[in-house]
Amino acid sequence: MGELLPPSPPRRHLLSVGDLEREDVERILATARSLAGSLGRELKKLPTLRGRTVVNVFYESSTRTLSSFELAAKRLSADTMSIRASGSSVDKGESLKDTILTLSAYDPDVIVIRHPSIGAPRLVARWTDAHVVNAGDGKNQHPTQALLDVYAMQEAFGRLEGLHVAIVGDVLHSRVARSLVQALGLVGARATVVAPPTLLPPGIDALGCETSTDISAISAADVVYVLRMQRERMEEAYVPSLREYTALYGITPERVRPGQAVMHPGPMNRGVEIDPRVADSDAALVIDQVRAGLAVRMAVLYDVLTVAPVAPVARGVAEAVA
Ligand code: NCD
Repeated sequence: MGELLPPSPPRRHLLSVGDLEREDVERILATARSLAGSLGRELKKLPTLRGRTVVNVFYESSTRTLSSFELAAKRLSADTMSIRASGSSVDKGESLKDTILTLSAYDPDVIVIRHPSIGAPRLVARWTDAHVVNAGDGKNQHPTQALLDVYAMQEAFGRLEGLHVAIVGDVLHSRVARSLVQALGLVGARATVVAPPTLLPPGIDALGCETSTDISAISAADVVYVLRMQRERMEEAYVPSLREYTALYGITPERVRPGQAVMHPGPMNRGVEIDPRVADSDAALVIDQVRAGLAVRMAVLYDVLTVAPVAPVARGVAEAVA
């Protein structure tokens, strides 16, 4: 696959899958595959990002995304620190801009940001010289989740081209669904989103997917990708009751066909969108996704950093020499 990669430069930031080309996705997946090899060794640390600093700034709760970014930075020998909104000066009313300006005084190389507001990472990129990676902004984008998901699919199926993925559940509030539909389109896979009419955002097909409100639409797919019911983003009742949602759209053993893989970004609401018997079955790739998250986030940190901007001083020196 390496020889297919065109020589485009890595991107400075990773804000949205919509900013990526197919070659960007293929380059990051290839880097993740080679880095994954190092994770199986007894000594897991690589010197690649020694002397670099990665700051994680999380304004929303997280288990997998934050822990994997921290560990990814450490495995590449970068210095890393994590600021969570609660327990920081955000609690005291400090604005996002002031928080970013404060942290930027330490000259970080990368800021990884999760924020409930759509577009916050793009604003952060304007306020700092660091490379910015979006770790989830409201219901908009979660690009590293989409990359780790396609990586896990490629590992499980050995291909992405032509793979059919049914994304089921609370599509309306899901940044994971939006990013994943776009990423699947970039790698030549097919996406069908399946949700009750109230949780199916109008116009989602413009991102490059088919839509259905009928749960039986999942039977044609190679992968059933289950979304969490995002109750924290629901201001009103989108379904008559969770019990009814589970009855109509919950992923039970009866709804999974032999040979299908089941994925979930976590955290899972067992017994709501996914039956525990499915979550614990051999069809479930949930833990493979978490493992993929480490390799892919290492690859993303490496990718944004390999094209470091030329610092003004260095540029001056280069021009003087020329
Ligand atoms: C997702 C998120 O935060 O968007 N979780 C994650 O990053 N693993 C999905 C979710 O919260 O449902």
